[in-house]
Amino acid sequence: MPDGALELSEKAGKMGKDGMNIALLGLGTVGGGVYKVLKRQAPEMMQKLNTELHLKKVLVRNPKRHEMDVDDPSILTCNFEEIVDDPEIEIVVEVMGGIEPAYTYIRDALKAGKSVVTANKDLIADRGGELLEIAEENNVELRFEASVAGGIPIISPLKNSLAANEISEIMGIVNGTTNFILSKMSDEGMDYADALAEATSLGYAEADPTADVEGHDAARKVAIMATIAFHTRVTFRDVYTEGITKISQKDIRYANALGWKIKLIGLAQNTDEGVEVRVHPMLIPLNHPLATVSGSYNAVYVMGDAVGDVMFYGYGAGEMPTASAVCGDVFSVARHTVIHAQGSTRDNVYRKIPIKRIDNICSSYYLRMEVEDKPGVLATIASIFGNNSVSIEQVIQKDKVNDLAELVIVTSKVRERHIRDAMLILNSSSVVKNIASVIRVYSE
Ligand code: NAP
Ligand code: HSE
Repeated sequence: MPDGALELSEKAGKMGKDGMNIALLGLGTVGGGVYKVLKRQAPEMMQKLNTELHLKKVLVRNPKRHEMDVDDPSILTCNFEEIVDDPEIEIVVEVMGGIEPAYTYIRDALKAGKSVVTANKDLIADRGGELLEIAEENNVELRFEASVAGGIPIISPLKNSLAANEISEIMGIVNGTTNFILSKMSDEGMDYADALAEATSLGYAEADPTADVEGHDAARKVAIMATIAFHTRVTFRDVYTEGITKISQKDIRYANALGWKIKLIGLAQNTDEGVEVRVHPMLIPLNHPLATVSGSYNAVYVMGDAVGDVMFYGYGAGEMPTASAVCGDVFSVARHTVIHAQGSTRDNVYRKIPIKRIDNICSSYYLRMEVEDKPGVLATIASIFGNNSVSIEQVIQKDKVNDLAELVIVTSKVRERHIRDAMLILNSSSVVKNIASVIRVYSE
């Protein structure tokens, strides 16, 4: 075993008060990263934590397939009971993903008096409140820093460093896969399918990348952040969600020509009309800092009444950045356990704020449509918008598509319900053949 390497099962259980045993559930992209980071950190663990961490068990579906991934294959198991029933294991790290069996394993580990660290946003966005209560009842911790924005610290700042603020808004790019795809499509003209395949091979995408490209993963992260920031329960189902699958090269070219980048944005605002939570593509001006966030990088803006604006930036996905967040949580739990001072990790939900309906949000909109190429069409379209309280800010007519004219219209800021009403009429009008895309535009 190399110098300072993570000591495995031989030593586990014999450490007494100087050592702490942990178990890892999952040894895929993130689990593999956690294994490497713990190994790298082993030489200085005692100085950092006043204890040593020993990886006693690693749960996988198929231990045989992972024998080359660990120094001591005897730590591999496919039997969770070997972990939950072992009183010497104090911290369980869940990096398997999915709702079940992850939920049952985390619940049982907490009930058995073990602290849990997880990267599982599906689970935290859906049943986090319930699991946090179980952690509290059992006087242990449940931490989930890696569940939002990969390696970027955001959960702990929201809960701790920014706790003295009334937070009004969180806005950001919180999915690495879709940001990588949009960057490749925009900067290199790459095909959507090729860019997704590359994001998957780099370990950014979820086991089922539909969650990434349809915006569900980002919606889960928005729900988690909004719950903590606004102290009201926001679930995944509350978040209005659109993904990037309808974004075409044509829209990307128009965006570039108009001085915008298309980004998948997650937004949470605490407004007088309720909590506004949404995830959808947005046209961002090139001089906005989020427009320069490329590849698998993520960035999150938080607006607080005392601090003002703060921005968090870094890798939002991938093996080592995510392992950094997971291991940071493991180290926090270890420090607290050593001094017998496990802190409360609850999300502090004490308000009940209604969720604002998407119809009521205000935005400006980009619409690309194919229309009949004859005099008077523009006037008809303008009057439909006007009759529905929508004013037009820009009109661009460039390409012809099969004898139809392609129109791009940018509206001023209006209520979403007005755009929807106008679109219903446009769709039934004889001059409009197709509304090919509708994308919200960033406005202050
Ligand atoms: P992954 O590469 O698919 O790895 C999953 C691991 O879990 C595999 O080792 C698998 O075992 C094991 N596993 C799955 N179901 C299991 C079961 N029922 N019993 C035992 N073992 C099981 O996934 P990942 O990308 O590391 O993601 C893990 C979690 O981290 C997910 O919640 C994900 O959303 C989250 N996350 C991922 C990233 C990222 O960049 N990838 C970033 C932040 C958060 P086998 O190897 O034997 O199949
Ligand atoms: N699939 C996720 C992403 C992993 O691409 O952002 C990090 O949560």
